[in-house]
Amino acid sequence: MKVEFSAFPKAFSGNVAVFVAAERQLLATAKTLDQQAGGALGRAIAASRFTGAKGQSLTVLGQEKTGRLLLLGVGKARELDVRAAESLGGQVVADANAAGQKAVTVVVDPVKGTRLPPAEIAAHIALGARLRGYRFDRYKTKEKPEQKPTLEEVTVVVSTLADARRAYARLEPTVDAVFFTRDLVSEPANVLYPAEFARRARGDLTKLGVKIEILGEAEMKKLGMGALLGVGQGSERDSQLLVMRWLNGPKSQAPVALIGKGVCFDTGGISIKPAGGMEDMKWDMGGAGAVTGAMMLLAGRKARANVVGICALVENMPDGKAQRPGDVVKTMSGQTVEVINTDAEGRLILCDAMWYAQDKFKPQAMVELSTLTGAIIVSLGHERAGLFSNNTALSNKLRAAGSEVGEKLWRMPLGPKYDKLIDSDIADMKNVSGGRDGGSITAAQFLQRFVQEGVAWAHLDIAGMAWSTKGNDTTPKGATAYGVRLLDRWVADNYER
Ligand code: BES
Ligand code: MN
Ligand code: ZN
Repeated sequence: MKVEFSAFPKAFSGNVAVFVAAERQLLATAKTLDQQAGGALGRAIAASRFTGAKGQSLTVLGQEKTGRLLLLGVGKARELDVRAAESLGGQVVADANAAGQKAVTVVVDPVKGTRLPPAEIAAHIALGARLRGYRFDRYKTKEKPEQKPTLEEVTVVVSTLADARRAYARLEPTVDAVFFTRDLVSEPANVLYPAEFARRARGDLTKLGVKIEILGEAEMKKLGMGALLGVGQGSERDSQLLVMRWLNGPKSQAPVALIGKGVCFDTGGISIKPAGGMEDMKWDMGGAGAVTGAMMLLAGRKARANVVGICALVENMPDGKAQRPGDVVKTMSGQTVEVINTDAEGRLILCDAMWYAQDKFKPQAMVELSTLTGAIIVSLGHERAGLFSNNTALSNKLRAAGSEVGEKLWRMPLGPKYDKLIDSDIADMKNVSGGRDGGSITAAQFLQRFVQEGVAWAHLDIAGMAWSTKGNDTTPKGATAYGVRLLDRWVADNYER
């Protein structure tokens, strides 16, 4: 599906989407089409529940030449921000495919009362349309044409054409990065194992100027990453540490570090998971996927910042060689961990990746993303990721970035009483508290024990966000790439110039 921009034509033909503001206010083009159709639009609206509120839509048949007319509610003008524009773009695509259309024209009239210029609205409509148009169909070999999505072309009509094209060009790296991440997260684990993940990152990011380094098991052993290696021990596949450097900011600026959980498949290990739904654990590398996509996006738009991305890539399998409950492992930090439950593997690989990042790069801030706990889904569902941090300023910046791009966060607590729950009788700590209570918090407490003095740290538990069974405005069902845009926006807002 492609998106193009065009100036206003003399007359509209084909399927057209136009906008209606709150209180049934037709915008310019809708008004014209209404007149041409002898007031048909107004009558259709009057005969329906459509008021022009945000999210609403109504289909009308216009004159002969215009095909299907999609009226979209934009709500109150001041609510029309870039996110709302992206939603509208996504809505058009979903509607066109549902109706079996091949092409649709979206008309962007100036909206009084918003600070957004039409070119910006048009560009974000285009972005939303592209993001919604994603599809992972590489393993479908027998699909008939009528089973495929029909929409081939979206044309966005806007008077300030050059501005719109320029604005969209700035947004296009976002599409590439989000699609790259969605592909990684969608791939089954027989295809995407640690070395293959690293290979794809090397292939696609090197081109953009990202420096890639991949550490294997021998190198990690030398570094003392006993916790990470313990998780991968039961797998036929080699564990990998993927290290990505995008150093394009001032030399004097300490980098920020992005850390990702990349469990390419999580069976639970010897503490094996039940069979039902276990296939979901192919996307237990959603944090690593987001970090890698964010690096792609930063490089794709040539961000003026120093950012390193580090992904811990493993497969958690039961095996004769797998680690056992009760095993004690030594982390790179020197601290020891009693592994009570081999299914709490995310924290075990992240603690070594975080320690490596801090030792090696002395970052000013470290943000880690992981599909870490089922408990965060109990807390927050699929609307917000959990945010845990030792730093309120960092938390606020992340929350702000998230709401700008529609990837919302909710701050969760940390504290010494929770921390105490992971003390072990025989080692420095255990990897689970024992009970299920506060499961996301005790996981975060574990990670915090690996944050070095003076480092602003945040942990984003994205278990409820990496995959969507329903889809939403700009995301079809499946892999969401949650975190890619959030991280990019956080860097853009806080570390560039
Ligand atoms: N990858 C899972 C968490 C998860 C669950 C992600 C559901 C996405 C959807 C993680 O490794 C895990 O197994 N966590 C356990 C922790 C428990 C053993 C303390 C959990 O949440 O049950
Ligand atoms: Mn697990
Ligand atoms: Zn896991």
